Amino acid sequence: MAQNRDQWGSKLGFILAAVGSAVGLGNIWRYPYLLYSSGGGAFLVPYFFALLTAGIPLMILEYGFGHKFKGSTPMSLARANRKWEWLGWWPSLNSLVILIYYSAILGWAINYLIFSFTQSWGADTNTFFFGEFLNLSDSVFNFGGFRPAIFAGMTLIWFCNWFICYRGVSGGIEKLNRILLPTLIGIMLVITLRGVTLPGATVGLNKLFTPDWSRVLDPKVWIAAYGQIFFSLSLAMGVMITYSSYLPEKTDINNSAFMTAFANCGFEFMAALGVFGILGFMATSQGVAIEEVAKQGVGLAFVVFPKVFTLMGPLGTIFGILFFVCLVFAGLTSSVSMVEAFSSAVIDKTGADRKKVVTATAICGYLVGTVFATGSGLYILDIVDHFINSYGIVVIGLAEAAIVGWLYGAHKIREHVNPISIYPIGKWWEVMIKFVTPTILAFMLIQNFIAEIKAPYEGYPISALLLLGWGVVGAIIIVSFMISAKPWKEGALNIPAIKGVK
Ligand code: ALA
Repeated sequence: MAQNRDQWGSKLGFILAAVGSAVGLGNIWRYPYLLYSSGGGAFLVPYFFALLTAGIPLMILEYGFGHKFKGSTPMSLARANRKWEWLGWWPSLNSLVILIYYSAILGWAINYLIFSFTQSWGADTNTFFFGEFLNLSDSVFNFGGFRPAIFAGMTLIWFCNWFICYRGVSGGIEKLNRILLPTLIGIMLVITLRGVTLPGATVGLNKLFTPDWSRVLDPKVWIAAYGQIFFSLSLAMGVMITYSSYLPEKTDINNSAFMTAFANCGFEFMAALGVFGILGFMATSQGVAIEEVAKQGVGLAFVVFPKVFTLMGPLGTIFGILFFVCLVFAGLTSSVSMVEAFSSAVIDKTGADRKKVVTATAICGYLVGTVFATGSGLYILDIVDHFINSYGIVVIGLAEAAIVGWLYGAHKIREHVNPISIYPIGKWWEVMIKFVTPTILAFMLIQNFIAEIKAPYEGYPISALLLLGWGVVGAIIIVSFMISAKPWKEGALNIPAIKGVK
């Protein structure tokens, strides 16, 4: 069924949306701590190595593939070879799962945005977050009570997810990113500039950058660098293939990939400066070591930072508001990209109307997401996130590089992207895709697996890890194969001819 495929209004719109997808919670609350805890300045070596050997090469691959086959991830893979369709469903379904817990975190951020006006988290931000706000139960299978405030925050986020994608690619996603991304960068700049000039900021920045070269010899640090690059660039999530499928025939691929990657890395670097400036201020004003205040993830955003905002006095109120606006904006531009990655796959496969598919996706995601509004939401989120990242994204990246690199032929993608791009990529790219990326990802996978067998993740009960970890990963793979077995509508796999086609 030939559908009129939506297109970006301009190349800038595409870049903004891709950067919007890449810049997310991972940049703000994961990267700064990773940099600090993985060797400081020395971590930049594995980080840039990961960016150049896997991040940018895979970004070019995903852009090139989506552009060449003009379809969502499963459709693009099925068009290359009907037997590879499952490899398109897998990241699309992964995106759906990530989207569900990601939206729950954004629901928390909405609540905290409201709290930041009156700093209603009080003096003990730790007890407030885990006790009063989350009402965290004592174990993963004890759901505890339902949290209406969290549910309300999630409702707002799901409404935005739905509303943006319902309006389509250029009318919804592009418009959102045109407004939110520059605003986000502006706010982050303000936070960072003030953060690095706070009294005591240098203490934090020194800690952040003092290189510990011994850490560069630790394989775990390299695994962390690759993991960060993948999650942060939204690779192996089906997003970039889908987004590039909405590009016009004549466009630039290689330069766009470099631009997206460097914009994302620049943003996370800026976030690291701001976060550690603020942490330096906090450590100095409390007379404690940086080690005691440096946290990542929920601990940073919902426990340590609220405390800093309280310490800052009246300025802290403004800072708090800006910070949580930042989290919500960064998260929203990423969450809509995941809605799109999944919905476009369903639209392509079924031929159904975008509005219906987006509505159904939002309703299902929202309903499943209610589990995160219970007292065990944080445990569930932690387990699912760990498994999806360690075994979903890594394996998909590996399979993408191996299948496209070896079976499809990396040279065909290079031959597709070079004539349309401003700068051609050399043979080095094929070497990365065929040898370097798969080798490193295979190594990562083995290491992760060994760690998993040695000790259950975070000491959770085996039954919880089997059900929510392996169970979710396994179910996604099985469903991917099941959907792939269903036939396509007549002619759907023909690549539509667009005027000016080479
Ligand atoms: N790339 C997004 C992030 O960093 C998903 O959070």
